[in-house]
Amino acid sequence: MTEPAETPKPNLAKGIPIGNLADGQILQGKVGDEEAILVRRGAEFFAVGAYCTHYHGPLAEGLATGDTVRCPWHHACFDLRSGQAVRAPALDPISCWKTEVVGETVFVREKVAAPVAKRTPRKAPHSVVIVGGGAAGLAAAEMLRREGYDGSLQILSADDAPPCDRPNLSKDYLAGNAQEDWIPLRPPNFYTDQRIELRLNSRVAALDTQKKQVALENGKTLDFDALLIATGADPVRLEIPGAETAQVHYLRSFADSKAIIARAEKSRQVVVVGASFIGLEVAASLRTRGLEVHVVALDGEPLERVMGPEVGRFVRSVHEDRGVKFHLGETVVRLDGSEVTLKGGTKLAADFLVIGAGVRPALGLAEKAGLAIDKGISVNEYLETSAAGVFAAGDVAHWPDPHTGERIRVEHWVVAERQGQTAARNILGYREPFDAVPFFWSQHYDIAISYTGHAECWDRIAVDGRLEEKNCAVEYQRGGKRLAVATIGRDLENLRAEAAMESGHAGAVRMGSSI
Ligand SMILES: Cc1cc2nc3c(=O)[nH]c(=O)nc-3n(C[C@H](O)[C@H](O)[C@H](O)COP(=O)(O)OP(=O)(O)OC[C@H]3O[C@@H](n4cnc5c(N)ncnc54)[C@H](O)[C@@H]3O)c2cc1C
Ligand code: FES
Repeated sequence: MTEPAETPKPNLAKGIPIGNLADGQILQGKVGDEEAILVRRGAEFFAVGAYCTHYHGPLAEGLATGDTVRCPWHHACFDLRSGQAVRAPALDPISCWKTEVVGETVFVREKVAAPVAKRTPRKAPHSVVIVGGGAAGLAAAEMLRREGYDGSLQILSADDAPPCDRPNLSKDYLAGNAQEDWIPLRPPNFYTDQRIELRLNSRVAALDTQKKQVALENGKTLDFDALLIATGADPVRLEIPGAETAQVHYLRSFADSKAIIARAEKSRQVVVVGASFIGLEVAASLRTRGLEVHVVALDGEPLERVMGPEVGRFVRSVHEDRGVKFHLGETVVRLDGSEVTLKGGTKLAADFLVIGAGVRPALGLAEKAGLAIDKGISVNEYLETSAAGVFAAGDVAHWPDPHTGERIRVEHWVVAERQGQTAARNILGYREPFDAVPFFWSQHYDIAISYTGHAECWDRIAVDGRLEEKNCAVEYQRGGKRLAVATIGRDLENLRAEAAMESGHAGAVRMGSSI
């Protein structure tokens, strides 16, 4: 059978009849050698690059809302007027062209210069110190400079590597499908060019919010005018009788992922403890490397607490089809050499273990400094802690979520980066509330799950479509209100749900088949 020929992309420079584009419609075409999209918003037309700068997501399959276009893969958002990446996870702009309507035809003209959208900050602290070189820390530093902050800017990180693409550490990189140079979020010259002093291996031991000082573990102290705490989370460690430290791996940092790869390269079998997102992604990646993989977890079904039993069963079947063996309702009680004993008496052979038993937010510094804590560092809608001028973002922040009306804390990459961006603007005096709808994704072999909203408990799950066909939307509802939506194979629907939740409309509650 021959593949159907690809439809030629229209040359947008030669003009498109405006009647061919409905409001909100996105047309993919070409401008010279570059792929571009033409978007209509009311009477206006915009032309921008066709691919997202995060992971090259196809923006033609995304959603145009207001003056922006959103990426279908991980919900980055770009300004149609400038190409600027206005919301993480993309940080870099896309190309942008001028358009002109002549009669009934719209033409894409010359390229607009790359945005230098700097404004004079409302407030310019003498120095900003960011504790944490992860998602929130890097996004905040980048946004401070993008917003025109010119003063001293330091990132203090306990890691030995620059801010990295943490989600990839359990996915393509661990599976052997991503090169090492994909992992740093920014090249080394970024920090020098942007005058961001990145101090690696620099764990902060204490902070004094009165004196406005942080003390490093090496004894040095640093003054700050404004501070962002973005210390993330640490994996929960398990005591396994008989286990030698070298046999047990955890996964949080680039170094952890490299250590697992080094181990996997000389191993045949692994036991993964925990059937949460990280445990399962590790299972998938190590299975892709050809290892025999056993997953041991207390849960009845993987991911059940976050996504319900139906999605859990489906995800388990996806892994089982690839040869992963599950031992659910079980726990490891002992490791003797390469023999793992489960509580129920089952013995498994394992060259090493990877533990994915959840994380705890890294709150030690904030606790010692006397900041208000409640399941995380308590922040207000501006992400400011109980100490003025001290902000918190990412996995540590417990914030008032306007969509659920509850204070929540999540462990999502996109939320951490967006909070870093909002905290940066608020450090500069903009008083911008953090109101993004939480979003995360997870990847299991070729299946991506996108989840928008936040549902800690629900009274109804409605499924539209069929999980087995990898084409469905699963809605989590409480009291007749939609709290969250998980989709597989329906990225546009997930974007629409995000937009509806943002505007305060839960959207039509889906009836579907109930679980
Ligand atoms: C393997 C893996 C895969 C993931 N996959 C996904 C995914 O697919 N989708 C998703 O939405 N989320 C995913 N996550 C979760 C996501 O990565 C986190 O939510 C996000 O990294 C949180 O960002 P953060 O900035 O709060 O913390 P982090 O990115 O963890 O950064 C914290 C930083 O603080 C530093 N630090 C801590 N204490 C100190 C101290 N005292 N002094 C100085 N520095 C300190 C750390 O060294 C680190 O640099 C994944 C996480 C992991 C580990
Ligand atoms: S590829 Fe566009 S947000 Fe990730």
